[in-house]
Amino acid sequence: ELLVSPKTLERIEEMITTGLPEANFFQPLRQYQGFWCFPVFLRGAILAQENFRAKPEDIFLCSAPKTGTTWLKALSFATVTRTHFDDSESPLLRKLPHDCIPYLEHVSIKNSTRELPPNLPLLSTHAPYSWLPNSITESGCKIVYICRNPKDVFVSLWHFVRNIESENREVISLEEGFDLYCRGTSVYGPYLDHVLGYWKASLEFPDRVLFLKYEEMMEDPAFYLKKLAEFMGYPFSLEEENEGEVQKIIDLCSFDKLSSLEINTKGKVYYDQGAMFNNHTLFRKGKVGDWKNYLTSEMAERLDKIAEDKLGKSGLKF
Ligand code: A3P
Repeated sequence: ELLVSPKTLERIEEMITTGLPEANFFQPLRQYQGFWCFPVFLRGAILAQENFRAKPEDIFLCSAPKTGTTWLKALSFATVTRTHFDDSESPLLRKLPHDCIPYLEHVSIKNSTRELPPNLPLLSTHAPYSWLPNSITESGCKIVYICRNPKDVFVSLWHFVRNIESENREVISLEEGFDLYCRGTSVYGPYLDHVLGYWKASLEFPDRVLFLKYEEMMEDPAFYLKKLAEFMGYPFSLEEENEGEVQKIIDLCSFDKLSSLEINTKGKVYYDQGAMFNNHTLFRKGKVGDWKNYLTSEMAERLDKIAEDKLGKSGLKF
């Protein structure tokens, strides 16, 4: 069921296809308000900007692609629904985390597939902070952002995007892809601008924006899961902690557990006119520092320098 009129869709389609700068990162990109994006996500993001009304109790999980979105979604979903399901019944055991928490970009086009239990307060988006519909930034609802070392994000992104099956796919080498990424021409790039937008918001509104780093969460998942739960308004009680509830959720959402589930080894996602990826491509290695296996020291230096210049005195470091 469509939530918007065909006329609105047509107007936005026209704007995207004829009115915006073009580039390519395996697939065609369009540049909108400073960021590059695949047209299918852009359509949803623009619709959301025009129509979406956030509720104060909504919680938005925000991220650039390949920074740990799937993991953050799994952890948040398991935490918020922990009293709803017995251990063996969690929807995470039979659904992709992305099907448990919908993307704002999709909800704006089709009627939401909000998962059981009804009124789950969780939504997600890859939109940069500056793209968020006004009602999200004005309603006082909470935002959780996850980011990751730019070098690992590139390696993860390059692998993921080259595995998307789509008609208009153009394969690009690691070197070409890296050059594009460094210049900001990748999906939701420039990545560091994406991160900085949320970083600044988290400094300005610390009660509303929780800023997380993949590496830190990997290092001490229990600490960050408790922090996340508290921020979302679902803190673990002492009793729950003593009963091992925190560890149970960490185990359920671990790379090894999720990546071995049948839904994630065999499932596929069709997302736009036949474009498809296998669920298992969302679970590649799940390691910190895998960039060392792919980037030369010159490449690493180039990206480090870009990050240093861009992040400057912002207080953020990778
Ligand atoms: P790698 O490609 O480096 O392995 P996203 O979910 O934002 O698309 O990010 C995908 C990255 O997160 C991939 O990184 C993937 O392996 C990793 N990942 C997926 N599930 C994870 C989990 N449960 N724990 C830790 N990392 C996970």
